[in-house]
Amino acid sequence: MFVTFEGIDGSGKSTQARMLAEALRGAGHDVVLTREPGGSPGAEEIRRLVLEGDPARWSAETEILLFTAARRDHLERTIEPALAAGKIVICDRFADSTRMYQGLSRGDLRATVDRLHDLMIGREPDLTLLIDIDPAVGLARAKGRQGHEERFEDMGLGMQEKMRAGFLNLAREFSARFRVIDGARASDAVAAEVLATVRAALA
Ligand code: ADP
Ligand code: TYD
Repeated sequence: MFVTFEGIDGSGKSTQARMLAEALRGAGHDVVLTREPGGSPGAEEIRRLVLEGDPARWSAETEILLFTAARRDHLERTIEPALAAGKIVICDRFADSTRMYQGLSRGDLRATVDRLHDLMIGREPDLTLLIDIDPAVGLARAKGRQGHEERFEDMGLGMQEKMRAGFLNLAREFSARFRVIDGARASDAVAAEVLATVRAALA
């Protein structure tokens, strides 16, 4: 089973992905916890190129190529081998993030994202948990982390609002695999709903 977390910056994806991995491991499952961009040595190198520096460093078109290149490497070297070995793969962001951040943030490039996805990735998650949150709360949480990977956070609140609406639309478009989870609660409450949702999907 291939599970992904999606949502805007600071919504709590990484926290929830980690808590879900711990809970499933505790129940005896073999779990691989991974993230995008990154998740394999080559893709982690690309991560630095896309997440650090000037927000205007790359055009949306160049980013589509970089994120898809990173994803292809991650898929070949980490995700597919783990799924083939019968493990549960939990991934913090995947192709839906490219559909939003590159497909929507600077003009409508969704069709380009989808064509490259079909050509080079061709795989969707079995289950996608959208952690939904008010962008002001998410951005405040994300800014509280004080990291170097701030290119997208630096694009501002308006962009995050567009991304949130876009993700909710995506959840309707791919309603068979998406579940929307309210992220504006304590981590433990969110984690309990996440685990119940995954258990129901596994059953
Ligand atoms: P994301 O991966 O979606 O950007 P993180 O899991 O990294 O989000 O969380 C962003 C920040 O908010 C972190 O500092 C984290 O400790 C904190 N955080 C995560 N979940 C919650 C929550 N439910 N309530 C309050 N703070 C949270
Ligand atoms: P991430 O490390 O998940 O950041 P956060 O914890 O703040 O949510 O992802 C870093 C950034 O990368 C995030 O702002 C969204 C962006 N991103 C894209 O623009 N396209 C993509 O395909 C992916 C996977 C991420």
